[in-house]
Amino acid sequence: MKAIEIKDLTYSYPGKPVLCNICLSLSGGSFTAVLGPNGCGKTTLLKNISGYLKPQQGETRLLGNPIRKLNPKERSRMVGYIPQNTSPGFSFTCHQVVSMGRLPYLGRFQWETREDMSIVMEAMELTGTWSLRGRPLSRLSGGEIQRVLIARALAQQPRILLMDEPVSHLDIKYQMDILGLVDRLCHTIGITAVTVLHDINLASRYCSEIVLMKEGRIVSTGSPSYVVTEKNLEDVFGIQAEIIMPHHLVVPRVDRLKRNII
Ligand SMILES: Nc1ncnc2c1ncn2[C@@H]1O[C@H](COP(=O)(O)OP(=O)(O)OP(=O)(O)O)[C@@H](O)[C@H]1O
Ligand SMILES: [Mg+2]
Repeated sequence: MKAIEIKDLTYSYPGKPVLCNICLSLSGGSFTAVLGPNGCGKTTLLKNISGYLKPQQGETRLLGNPIRKLNPKERSRMVGYIPQNTSPGFSFTCHQVVSMGRLPYLGRFQWETREDMSIVMEAMELTGTWSLRGRPLSRLSGGEIQRVLIARALAQQPRILLMDEPVSHLDIKYQMDILGLVDRLCHTIGITAVTVLHDINLASRYCSEIVLMKEGRIVSTGSPSYVVTEKNLEDVFGIQAEIIMPHHLVVPRVDRLKRNII
């Protein structure tokens, strides 16, 4: 059974077709990066996988369950979703925000148990946010907010973790910490993670699978060395880049002659 199975999915916003005949199948424990130009439909794809948007055509199954048959609470226990560019306009403390990750497990009028609180604490320690626990989210830096939102998703203990540009605001240490942590969660407890990234090199380094998109379609999918090729980068981004071995690093080709003239 695949962890995520998308069959022939088509999605349009009113008057704006975005995703076209998407087929994708991801195994449990895989860590996938979704790459592609601005506006190609990456966020829309993630929102369809999370069940937040409903496609006009096609179906998504999560761990074998058609997503339309799951109620919101079942969905939140299965899927953690970290949205792109969230600017939380509320004044909850970090600890309160991460504790919200436990809501899908609580009954009506039920308080968190000791176990819930230790799960929250562990999620905050793993993301380096425990020291921020008493501070209001509204007074944190962009990178600190991002880490708190990652902690909230981890506190949900989801089998599937969807992240939309989770490390864009993070310095290199936290980029490595967070992507390394997700990679470990995939390996050790079999979480299936899908993340939108713009940094192709980070994607190749940490992810087992890459989905390359252009204009609402999947152009290529497979291992980083299969997908990240000079030709694919030119086709999808219209850029001239060079792949440097042995680390399969993408570096821009710079026109030195032109630079000297300037
Ligand atoms: N709510 C909406 N209503 C109408 N059109 C939308 C809406 N949200 C996004 N779009 C359009 O759908 C297309 C895909 O948007 P999406 O946010 O999925 O792109 P993306 O690949 O995540 O881009 P980015 O890299 O900039 O985050 C874009 O052309 C965008 O303008
Ligand atoms: Mg986006």
